[in-house]
Amino acid sequence: MTTSRTPAKFYAPLAIGAPDPMRSLPVRLERMIHFVPPQNDKLRGRVKEMIAQVDVILGNLEDAIPMEQKAAARAGFIAMARENDYGQTGLWTRINCLNSPWGLDDILEIVPAAGNKLDVIMLPKVEGAWDIHYLDQLLAQLEAKHKITKPILIHAILETAEGVKNVAEIAGASPRMHGMSLGPADLAASRGMKTTRVGGGHPSYGVLADPGKAGDARAFYQQDLWHYTVAKMVDACQSYGIKAFYGPFGDFSDPAACEAQFRNAFLMGCVGAWSLHPSQVEIAKKVYSPDPVEVDFAKRILAAMPDGTGAVMIDGKMQDDATWKQAKVIVDLAKLVATKDTARAATYGL
Ligand code: GLV
Ligand code: MG
Repeated sequence: MTTSRTPAKFYAPLAIGAPDPMRSLPVRLERMIHFVPPQNDKLRGRVKEMIAQVDVILGNLEDAIPMEQKAAARAGFIAMARENDYGQTGLWTRINCLNSPWGLDDILEIVPAAGNKLDVIMLPKVEGAWDIHYLDQLLAQLEAKHKITKPILIHAILETAEGVKNVAEIAGASPRMHGMSLGPADLAASRGMKTTRVGGGHPSYGVLADPGKAGDARAFYQQDLWHYTVAKMVDACQSYGIKAFYGPFGDFSDPAACEAQFRNAFLMGCVGAWSLHPSQVEIAKKVYSPDPVEVDFAKRILAAMPDGTGAVMIDGKMQDDATWKQAKVIVDLAKLVATKDTARAATYGL
């Protein structure tokens, strides 16, 4: 027995007067989701200049905001939504989770006050489709009541063992689903991992080479702790036409490790990551904008196979319909980057 809605009802508004759900996501460049603590007047004051530098600005209400500042963060987010024009830069908020003392008021206060400016609500600690269904219904009711004209999308954080188990159902739970981010810090705790980090690797997680001749040093190869989860998340997201993101990288003193983690996620199919510190904005731009050398090669593949079929050789490498499709992913991304990032547009020859 299936418990999902029929296709026609899946795309019907969940409240009379709510806007029609989107059938496909708006095409937007989202290389980094830049976190701002909205209760901090100084950082909120910098939002105007950040809008031009980042792809998404997110007002964070959840973890890292102290309990006694939760209400101020919510009010600060409403102020930063109203005070600024975001243009093509996304405006998101990360609300508190649904079983916390603050989650309901976050939604009930923010949607009426800033719903027509808000693109996406990031929902933490999502465990199953039921969490998405609840928020989906509530948002439809609030959109209808407060005359919100475009649906507010939902972005889930994948950060509990149960959420990872249910990741495909979460991805397909609603047409409101924008995508998902890996939350490595909460996920590590939820899984009982023996780490004390926010993302990245661990020096003890790896593979020791076989013993060689007596006395030879044995190489140890550190492995990526997040490989399995990122792969599972990307497959769930791509199969439903939504976007996968790497989440936070907490060691601001190690930009090289941040870049390596972001790049693994990019190569595996993610489209962006979080920036928790201004220094991570440039890292995300570098990683999540395709390499001009790759773009150049991809353009040659597309040019060599105008209708996308057949087989050709370029620089000794076989190309066919499947590499044509890979090349198209890269060229389409380069074109999207070029719409916003004029410096990179020039390097792509677009
Ligand atoms: C993010 O929220 C994380 O827990 O890593
Ligand atoms: Mg978390």
